[in-house]
Amino acid sequence: EKGGYDHFMLKEIFEQPQTIFDSLRGRLDAEQQHITLSGVDKIKDKLMEANRIIIVACGTSWHAGLLAEYVIEELCRINVEVEYASEFRYRNPIITDKDVIIAISQSGETADTLVALENAKKQGATIFGLVNVVGSSIARLSDAGAYTHAGPEIGVASTKAFTAQLAVLYLIALKVARDKQTIDQTLFNKLLADLAKVPQFVHDILEEQDAAIKAVALKYADARDFLYLGRGFNFPIALEGALKLKEISYIHAEGYPAAEMKHGPIALVDENLPVVFVATKDSYHEKIVSNIQEIKARKGKVIAVISQGDNIVAGLADDVMVVPQVHEVIAPLLSVVPLQLLSYYIGVHRGLDVDKPRNLAKSVTVE
Ligand code: F6R
Repeated sequence: EKGGYDHFMLKEIFEQPQTIFDSLRGRLDAEQQHITLSGVDKIKDKLMEANRIIIVACGTSWHAGLLAEYVIEELCRINVEVEYASEFRYRNPIITDKDVIIAISQSGETADTLVALENAKKQGATIFGLVNVVGSSIARLSDAGAYTHAGPEIGVASTKAFTAQLAVLYLIALKVARDKQTIDQTLFNKLLADLAKVPQFVHDILEEQDAAIKAVALKYADARDFLYLGRGFNFPIALEGALKLKEISYIHAEGYPAAEMKHGPIALVDENLPVVFVATKDSYHEKIVSNIQEIKARKGKVIAVISQGDNIVAGLADDVMVVPQVHEVIAPLLSVVPLQLLSYYIGVHRGLDVDKPRNLAKSVTVE
């Protein structure tokens, strides 16, 4: 049942070229430069005149939501708020019938997310569900939606469901941007073309980087703490990398926007602290290079996710994990993959049950 892999988590990480492909299939047509998403068409009028989009989720799905905020605001010029479902449901939020809510949930059964949506629906908001489990409670409550086609996810820590969520969120953002004419045809085509290449690129990362990442994992498996830093589109990936490490290895890890490190976390840096930089080539690259130099100046150990051919960061970092270069908007879908593997190999090296981390449940149906 694990298809020859030692754990479901590893199997599911390696399934991602296929699951991302499945989530794009029949929806993304790079040649015809067209996106088909009937769920988006169904609420098109609402989306076109939406005051704002509110994204509601928990955990890893919340990280997908945070990235969606960056992408939707950039491409669609719609104001986006990202909410932890547990906070949103209790703080009497201001919701009107001009609000569109995107609910993100692998299981479709997370109690806080479900109740937050029920409340918002009563106040007239339109609910769009981005859910993996077909027919689940959140899917049924939604006015419209799109399924992620990741297949059943057995590993308690989410991997392939996360990348499927990102794939579909990109499609939603691109489709709305095209409908609203907030991006030009050239950028639209470029992003579509890069998105279409992602399954192959993820395949390449898994093939080419697996052994190197395993070696990096062994090197740092005894660390007490980790810091994960990223800027812009890669900031949500820093958060997700840190969460994955906590869950799987029980090592304390924190994710931060790279520039925030000066406002506190830099006090933690010494020769025992590994700092993971999500540092693929983008418009913030020079800035993140100087953040890396600041860590190195304090003797921190730098592990960096870099774009192929980035000799600058490769020269500064203690260890690198390399991903193909794509447009910066799409890059997070690649940069998360090495971080999944890093957590996996550290957890396995520490002798832990990576498929069923202690105290965690696959779907949190109680609050
Ligand atoms: C992390 C993880 C959890 C879930 C969260 C939301 O690896 O699995 O943080 O992402 O419990 O679950 P869903 O997406 O089912 O609503």
